[in-house]
Amino acid sequence: MSIADRDRAVLWHPYTQMRTAPAPLPIVRAEGVWLYTEDGRKILDGISSWWVNIHGHSHPKLNAALAAQAGELEHVVFAGCTHRPAVELAERLIEVLPKGLARVFYSDNGSTAVEVALKMAVQYWCNLGQPNRRTFITLHNAYHGDTVGAMSASEDSVFTRAFSTLLFPVERVSGLEDMEQRLRDAGDSVAAVLIEPMLQGAGGMIVWPAEFVAGVRRLCDTYQTLLIADEVLTGFGRTGKMFACEHAAITPDIICLSKALTAGYLPLGVTATTEAIYEAFLSEERSKTFFHGHSYTANPLACAVALASLDLFRDEPVLASVARLERQLRDGFERLRGLGDVRVIGGIAAVELVSDKPGYLDQIGPRLAAAFLERGLLLRPLGNVAYFMPPYCITESETAWALDQIVHVLG
Ligand SMILES: Cc1ncc(COP(=O)(O)O)c(C=O)c1O
Repeated sequence: MSIADRDRAVLWHPYTQMRTAPAPLPIVRAEGVWLYTEDGRKILDGISSWWVNIHGHSHPKLNAALAAQAGELEHVVFAGCTHRPAVELAERLIEVLPKGLARVFYSDNGSTAVEVALKMAVQYWCNLGQPNRRTFITLHNAYHGDTVGAMSASEDSVFTRAFSTLLFPVERVSGLEDMEQRLRDAGDSVAAVLIEPMLQGAGGMIVWPAEFVAGVRRLCDTYQTLLIADEVLTGFGRTGKMFACEHAAITPDIICLSKALTAGYLPLGVTATTEAIYEAFLSEERSKTFFHGHSYTANPLACAVALASLDLFRDEPVLASVARLERQLRDGFERLRGLGDVRVIGGIAAVELVSDKPGYLDQIGPRLAAAFLERGLLLRPLGNVAYFMPPYCITESETAWALDQIVHVLG
């Protein structure tokens, strides 16, 4: 029996209507931007394996770092114990993060990085004697993950609808004016403003100007609330800068990282914050402790690969590759202007196709995915928004080939 047949008998896939979805692709090997299937096909990974892969699959240096760490220490409880990979990764992250972020809290994935940020913000105010500050201001079209807090902060959508009774209310705004109005009206009940800086990903690859991000920082300062930047998708070069906040030259009070943190190898989340926020949790009273953690917090294998990925950023022209990719994507997607709104930032290009029924459930998405796959390209359009987000190591000729497939299918 093939892997796909055995899968059918025992598995339940994420975001997948198991009755109608096509059989999953059985991937047996991957290298660089290429995925190899059980039945001998070679497919270009045009979505960086859910936006996580940056240096390519099965990278020799990342493989070596992982193997070396496995031989030394695979895992240990992170309450009461520590280890070199966790410490070194925190040190290295603080070096590259926007200035002022000085404390690293580990968790497991993007959603937990956001959950930690939400809880950190609420308890920060509690510890300061302002327990009334518990509301979050978020953006329409936001997506922050699938756990209950992250869903609450996300736009109401088909992803969250069945759970609406479980979610806590947030204030959703659509721009700076709106945000300022809410801050003016409800300022002293706001725990934090939460944004995906520069790019809202799952909400439809919506690009925001740097001035907006700078404006949010200004408003948070004026109304003395916290700014949380969810850089789960945008972190580690995806928008052309190491972190998207750099486009606006701002430092958030809390930043959430995951996905490309380990270059797509292992799940790891980071919620980094300022010394001031950290200090609000220091007390002789144990009740002020941040009571949050996960079994695999600061997993040494994940930290070791993350460190090896940062080495690649330091030793190789990784951001220059993203800049080159961006230029090529701009030229390539120019050819799609007639089909809808084209948006390019860093290593991501998207076209929002004109549709009668725009949104995630637009049937055009799965039809396009099947057509791309037939031509050897793995893409997962978000409804009527088709996007291309390959690993940064993609070559010029591979990019040109992928762009030709995209233009052909969409045309
Ligand atoms: C901006 C953003 N935040 C959070 C998440 C959730 O991350 P994870 O899927 O690792 O839980 C995602 C995932 O796509 C994301 O794009």
